[in-house]
Amino acid sequence: MTNDLSGGVDNLLTETRTFPPSAEFAAQANAQPELFDRAAADREGFWLEQARELLTWRTEPTQSLDWSDAPVARWFADGTLNACENAVDRHVAAGNGDRVAIHFEGEPGDRRDITYAELLEQVSRAAGALEANGVTKGDRVAIYLPMIPEAVVAMLACARIGAVHSVVFGGFSADALHSRIIDGDARVVITADGGWRRGKQLPLKRAVDEAIAKGGTAVDRVLVVRRTEQDVEWTEGRDVDWAEALAAAPATHEPVAVEAEHPLYILYTSGTTGKPKGIVHTTGGYLTQSQYTFRYVFDHKPGQDVYWCTADVGWVTGHSYVAYGPLADGATQVLYEGTPDAPHQGRWWEIVQRYGVTLLYTSPTAIRTCMKWGEQIPGEFDLSSLRLLGSVGEPINPEAWMWYRRVIGGERTPIVDTWWQTETGAILISPLPGITSTQPGSATKPLPGIEADVVDDAGNPVENGQGGYLVLSSPWPSMTRGIWGDRQRFVDTYWSRFPGKYFAGDGARKDDDGDIWLLGRVDDVMNVSGHRLSTTEIESSLVSHPSVAEAAVVGATDDTTGQAVVAFVILRQEAAEAADIVAELRAHVAKEIGPIAKPRDILVVADLPKTRSGKIMRRLLRDVAEGREAGDVTTLADSSVMDQISKGMAAG
Ligand code: WTA
Repeated sequence: MTNDLSGGVDNLLTETRTFPPSAEFAAQANAQPELFDRAAADREGFWLEQARELLTWRTEPTQSLDWSDAPVARWFADGTLNACENAVDRHVAAGNGDRVAIHFEGEPGDRRDITYAELLEQVSRAAGALEANGVTKGDRVAIYLPMIPEAVVAMLACARIGAVHSVVFGGFSADALHSRIIDGDARVVITADGGWRRGKQLPLKRAVDEAIAKGGTAVDRVLVVRRTEQDVEWTEGRDVDWAEALAAAPATHEPVAVEAEHPLYILYTSGTTGKPKGIVHTTGGYLTQSQYTFRYVFDHKPGQDVYWCTADVGWVTGHSYVAYGPLADGATQVLYEGTPDAPHQGRWWEIVQRYGVTLLYTSPTAIRTCMKWGEQIPGEFDLSSLRLLGSVGEPINPEAWMWYRRVIGGERTPIVDTWWQTETGAILISPLPGITSTQPGSATKPLPGIEADVVDDAGNPVENGQGGYLVLSSPWPSMTRGIWGDRQRFVDTYWSRFPGKYFAGDGARKDDDGDIWLLGRVDDVMNVSGHRLSTTEIESSLVSHPSVAEAAVVGATDDTTGQAVVAFVILRQEAAEAADIVAELRAHVAKEIGPIAKPRDILVVADLPKTRSGKIMRRLLRDVAEGREAGDVTTLADSSVMDQISKGMAAG
């Protein structure tokens, strides 16, 4: 464990501002206090009830949790269903085909509304097109697309035929895409010529071509959406035009019923080693909990609310709270392709005003960025439609929370600070907006049906007022069923630290009321702008550069992005002279992993602080990166190393 758990204590001790729900909000809220009572009375029965109430099944499940193969859970295992049918078909069948599912806004300003009836036709055609290209139940399909409706259509089309999607964030490099295609053994890739980002075209198709050219993949079909209309290379026999394939497919398609435990998707996330983990989610439990949390945490009212989640489909938030949760609940949502400052810093607020967004879900980094730009910018737009705000991805500092509530929420809207992970599939710890009194910076309590706790080193629950490690004490329906192809790594990573409990990797504290305050990661995972990055992964990328002998990476506190990547590198002798080595190394990391992983600072050092057993003491490097005096150096093999590094940092 590299972090101590003292961070955030001061806030905790002084934070006395409390915001109870208004009587008006409480009266109309979807979640009423009896939800807690029902869950507490019979947790597993409660989840089965939710599964049957929320979802449309082909075969109704009668079983709830099956924990006999722990820690791989099975939920509702005797049920069968189709995720796409739940997200689309059933709303059309219920007479809501004319309801807008997606208000799409492209970065250049193009707009498109897609109703549920239109979405049904698109997913049907796309499913047919995939089948025509040989994709069947259980096959893996890689999706590498910008934030355009086709991304959602592609995911749902896979689900419709029982294929397993593996979405790779469009900001990842060809190298990162290549390793994910190989690990998941995908045969088909769905991509676009490009996407718009800050006025520039992302060269997505080119990255796919490069990834496949690296060899070793089984890809024999690449479906290409035309988005930017830029010129792309075309490999005859392998590349297929998306629009032509959809036009050639039938307008209707019968969804394939799958078992509740059939895999729905793989999503890669950074862990504490260099190799990303393919987190696996299955169908019935995942969908139940995505929809459950969407309905109760966001207080969603179908046909009335306009919801907008700003996350990219390349992350889990885009899976659970763009693709599956909202659509399963029949939501109308905004999908925006670009960045918040394209072409002006008021773009988001203009979108809120245009579509009358009522529920907004975004990240602390985005909120802090808007704070920096100034409140006069949102002040130019009418944000009075908003009735609830959500936050996700990182701990939200009280100042950002208060700003969000005052400037964006007009002092009126509840804020739900939602804690969860790629592995948990859905929100686990969050206020319920009509019930919970909130405090800026606390995710408050586990949702009904969830059992979480904060434990000490020995795995014993800590007293209120104490800090420790966040664990989940019992299984939940949307929990990951493991790491693709590596059961042992799943067991080791999450279940070995505290036997019988899921260890989340986060530090947390309980306040005097038992409310939970998240304190950030306690392992070698950084959280930069809400994106998980592994220190080891970036270190391996740095040492793969011929000039680098050794590298150590830490996450340093950053006012805007939460944490920032800071790298310390020892150069090989012959490279020490190179003029632009820092710029070159940053570019190298961007190429190997993606621009999001580029170190903010790279410091060339002569030596790294190591213990006598050779382990790099990242704690000390973090002190330096954050401008503090280095802490206890007594366990260092050579205690003068830190002096030299600190001097170098001050000089740089
Ligand atoms: C962090 C994103 C504090 C946490 C959904 C977790 C949070 C990691 C919060 C998962 C929150 C997420 N408060 N920290 N409300 N939400 N985190 O897998 O460290 O990309 O372990 O999932 O983000 O990141 P992931």
